Amino acid sequence: MPNNYVKIFDTTLRDGEQSPGATMTSAEKLELAHHLARLGVDIIEAGFPAASPDDLEAVRRIAVEVGQPAVGADKEARVPVIAGLARANKPDIDKAWEAVKEAQKPRIHTFLATSEIHMKHKLKMDPEDVVQRVSEMVTYARTLCADVEFSPEDAGRSDPEFLYVVLGEAIKAGATTLNIPDTVGYTTPDEFYKLIAGIIKHTPGMHDGITISVHCHDDLGLATANALAGIQAGARQAEVTVNGIGERAGNTSLEEVVMTLKTRKPVFNLETGIETTQISRISKIVSNYTGIVVQPNKAIVGSNAFAHEAGIHQDGMLKHQTTYEIMRPEDVGVNQSKLVLGKHSGRHALRSRLAEMGHSLDEVELDKAFARFKELADRKKTVTDLDLEALIADEFYRPRDVYLLSGMQVSCGTMGMPTATVRLRGPDGVIHTVAAIGTGPVDATYKAIDSIVNVPCTLLEFNIHAITAGIDALGEVTVRIQSDNGKSTMDAQSEVEYLRVYGGHGADTDIIVASAKAYINALNKLIIAQTEGTEKVQNDFGVMLG
Ligand code: KIV
Ligand code: ZN
Repeated sequence: MPNNYVKIFDTTLRDGEQSPGATMTSAEKLELAHHLARLGVDIIEAGFPAASPDDLEAVRRIAVEVGQPAVGADKEARVPVIAGLARANKPDIDKAWEAVKEAQKPRIHTFLATSEIHMKHKLKMDPEDVVQRVSEMVTYARTLCADVEFSPEDAGRSDPEFLYVVLGEAIKAGATTLNIPDTVGYTTPDEFYKLIAGIIKHTPGMHDGITISVHCHDDLGLATANALAGIQAGARQAEVTVNGIGERAGNTSLEEVVMTLKTRKPVFNLETGIETTQISRISKIVSNYTGIVVQPNKAIVGSNAFAHEAGIHQDGMLKHQTTYEIMRPEDVGVNQSKLVLGKHSGRHALRSRLAEMGHSLDEVELDKAFARFKELADRKKTVTDLDLEALIADEFYRPRDVYLLSGMQVSCGTMGMPTATVRLRGPDGVIHTVAAIGTGPVDATYKAIDSIVNVPCTLLEFNIHAITAGIDALGEVTVRIQSDNGKSTMDAQSEVEYLRVYGGHGADTDIIVASAKAYINALNKLIIAQTEGTEKVQNDFGVMLG
């Protein structure tokens, strides 16, 4: 790699997925990994295989299906490295290797905390034991895999002199990438710059073959600034997530780092391999899959990021785009949905548009997509890429249908009690029809669904928005729910068990139907987690699931 190239290490599927509500199904993870590869990320951290057999299998499938060149692909086609995370112990490292070994370019990423706070209170280990464990575990990982990354967790609060020792041992043991995490988002850009510069200068055995990486969290809103400061100090890998999702306040956001390096090229003189016109689309996909809505004023991908409201700004923009825009919206794929399909567009037009958007469907899937498209085109004059993306997410990237909406009828208004009649096909194929009254049409609908599905849960968040302008727009709903009696899996950095939050997404021109779909979607994820054992719970039928 030339020294002006910054590798983009995407951890949306690992650190991002760890954030509350970001739980994705295996099918969603695989699909997202394909999109990340198309986006041009250099490394995909596909998950934490030791978390559960399910996580291991999801990483393995990504290694096989995304980490290998596609059949008939050009020899020069870029294939991303597939990384699996492991704590610094043999069973974790074995599982990470098991999961990634079939990739063309596998990587084991192992970590151990090095700050005094973590060593004393969490690990209950002496610093000397930490040094020894790092040396042993990196050595062990290298017996399995040629590409090993080591992270001293909580490096941002670690003693730099101690870090030099630990990192020196990691190099001696064969680590090829040293990732420096500001795990709790504590440092300032100036401090982080000095930390990275000090590591490059003082770590024993440092050489050109070692990549220094930055991994920052956003607790003080400084993740992007810190990551860029680290890059200026010499780091050549940035660990990021799409939309900046991740633990607590999130991780450094991919789009912010990439677009800063691109927009301020004269300042950094650095490059990435990211196809920036894909950014807007992948942001949407991550939001749909996770149910985590992007705040409107989010840099680069927020719905207001390129909107100009104030008269003086609009006047400036009309005179010259550069007056108030430092990037062109089309550079991140905004406003590219100009191609419009209508009710006279045929199957072929739909197939080729979807292929251009990165969705290659088989005949059966295309039939379904075409039926949905026709249905939408009958109700809406024009169908844009954004509409298609929502339809595809709604039709194909939802979890397995444990329950499926097969019909509904709602009456509401000022004259009576809002009532919803909902018909669902259950896991046994039986059709259940229930009517319920609520405070409004959505409440009535959710009550009817609850009484069929019978999985006690709390609705934590409900968001609705129109995908495009116009009264005939497709409505998109995202919800987040949490089981009332669930017990979930451990997180990646400890043995602690915690309750997962499940997101659901639905799109329809009828917003009550979209609301029902989003809720059923989230419930299906919860039920699948319970049945597959990632969330153990006794349901109301007295059956022990998982
Ligand atoms: O934030 C962190 O320290 C991490 C490590 C596992 C790299 O996510
Ligand atoms: Zn992290």
